[in-house]
Formats: sequence, structure tokens, C-alpha cells
Amino acid sequence: MLPIAEITTLRATVQDWRQQGLKVGFVPTMGNLHAGHLELVKTARHHCDKVIVSIFINPLQFDRAADLHAYPRTLEQDCAQLAELADAVFTPTAELMYPQGQTQQTRVLVPGISQVLEGALRPGHFDGVSTVVCKLFNLVQPDVACFGEKDYQQLALIRKMVTDLNMPIDIISVPTVRASNGLALSSRNGYLTAAELALAPQLARTMHHIAQQIREGSRDFTALINSARAQLNAHGFRTDAIDIVDATHLLAVDEHSTAVVILMAAFLGNARLIDNQVVSL
Ligand code: PAJ
Repeated sequence: MLPIAEITTLRATVQDWRQQGLKVGFVPTMGNLHAGHLELVKTARHHCDKVIVSIFINPLQFDRAADLHAYPRTLEQDCAQLAELADAVFTPTAELMYPQGQTQQTRVLVPGISQVLEGALRPGHFDGVSTVVCKLFNLVQPDVACFGEKDYQQLALIRKMVTDLNMPIDIISVPTVRASNGLALSSRNGYLTAAELALAPQLARTMHHIAQQIREGSRDFTALINSARAQLNAHGFRTDAIDIVDATHLLAVDEHSTAVVILMAAFLGNARLIDNQVVSL
């Protein structure tokens, strides 16, 4: 696997692949890789001849400096995990991505979807995501890019950006990879103590319970949310947001809705955990 830190090397490598007629797959990450990330890489490999992974902790998408500072940096282990799976890993510095600093950075904004739900709770977060992913797409110029369904709103944001800006990239989504106890794998699980780790699967259990009630015909979403909130808080979580919205446009369910997505976000100790599940109506 080729480590790439410079834009010129990145462009030359991808150009070489293209000249050979090879299909290029791309997986953007912030590192601290786990089996969820690796599933994205395997999916990219399945669809493409060459796979490139980026590892870049994007300061532009962090709404809290402390969160950026604490984000786990495990480059050596990440590269070891990718050795047999990826053809190249792109690891730019913040100076390379934002040479004039973040405030001078041109932004890519995806109105609407970036401002609701998680976007309303974390102002600027999705603007940072769309901007960095657009830059990474322009740098790598992949045929295919893989994103996890774990970050449901992020996936919807990227799909909209690619459609609206006519980017010739196939976005492939990958189902959330979970531990055997149901907990969605996340770099942020590393912030949990052993006791919190034992409690954490309750987030998915509560979500599955809401899903079951919707499948059984319950349509009083407010009541479902309130009872889930009470259940989680009784288990030691600090619920941040629970939403049940149309799975396509992420707005309130209406008479045309055919599926909803349950979006969960809750603090457990120092970690903010998220999860989601789609339910057909
Ligand atoms: P990061 O949190 O590192 O996630 C990288 C990719 O892995 C995302 O597409 C995310 O949805 C996916 N992923 C994370 N956990 C997963 C799991 N348990 N199962 C399946 N996929 C999972 O998301 C980001 O980085 C950044 O916002 C990024 C897109 C790289 C832009 O900076």
C-alpha cells in the first residue's frame, strides 16, 4: 500500500491508474479505523480495481475545539489495518488542505439538509463535511466513493451535493457495522469506560424497540420519542436528540412518506453516540 502525503503524488498515482483504464474507489475517513471503516474499504474493493483511503481529521467540521483535540490519532495502526485492503492511503496535513487557514476557505454549502436535525445541534458541522469531501473528491477524482449508513444525514448530504453539483461519482452506502451486542462501531466508543461500554448497547435496543412499535402500527411519534428518552435517561444516558423523520428528505413525515428513519443521539459519559434505523411504513 502506497502512503501518499503530497497532492502531486496523489494526482500522478490516480492519473496512472486511469491511463491503465482502472476504476478508482475512494473511502474518506478521519482515521482510528475499525471494522466499520474496513467494510467500506472492502465494498470499494468489490466495485473497483484500485482503492484509495484518506485519513484526515478535518478541523472544519468540529464544532467544539476540545472534541477536535481529543479525537483519537492512530495513524500507524490504521495503515497496518489497511495494508492488505487498500492500494493507497492519502494523509494530508491541515496545512495542505487549508493553506490559508480555515477562515479563508471557500465553502461548499448544502442548504436545508445541513441545517436540520444534527445540523441544527452542531452549527457549521455539515458545512465542514461537504467542503472537505468536495475538496477530497476534486483531489482524488474517484469513480466510486463509499460512505457508512451509520452517519445517515451525512450520507444524504453527500448524495445531494454530488447530484446538485453534477459530480461524476457513484456514491455507495454501506450498512452500519455493529458489535455482537448491537452497539454501532464508532471511533467515539473509545471514550467510554468499561461500565459505560456495558450500558452503550441500550441505545440500539431502545431504537429497535421504537422500530418495532412503528412496525406494529404506532404513529404517535412524540409519545415514542418521549418514552425512549425517559428509558435512555434512566439507563444513565443524557439524550441529545431523538427524531423520527421521512427517510428520504429528513423532514416531517407526510402522507407521501413510505419509510421513516429513527435518528438517535445521546451522551454517555464523555462520548456522544449516534445511531439510526430505517423503518418502512
Ligand atoms: P469517520 O467518522 O472516520 O467515518 C468515515 C466513514 O466510515 C463514514 O462514511 C462513516 O459513516 C463510516 N462509518 C463509521 N462507523 C461505521 C460503522 N459502524 N459502520 C459502517 N460505516 C461506518 O465520517 C467521517 O469520518 C467524516 O465526516 C468524513 C466523511 C471523512 C469527512 O471528514
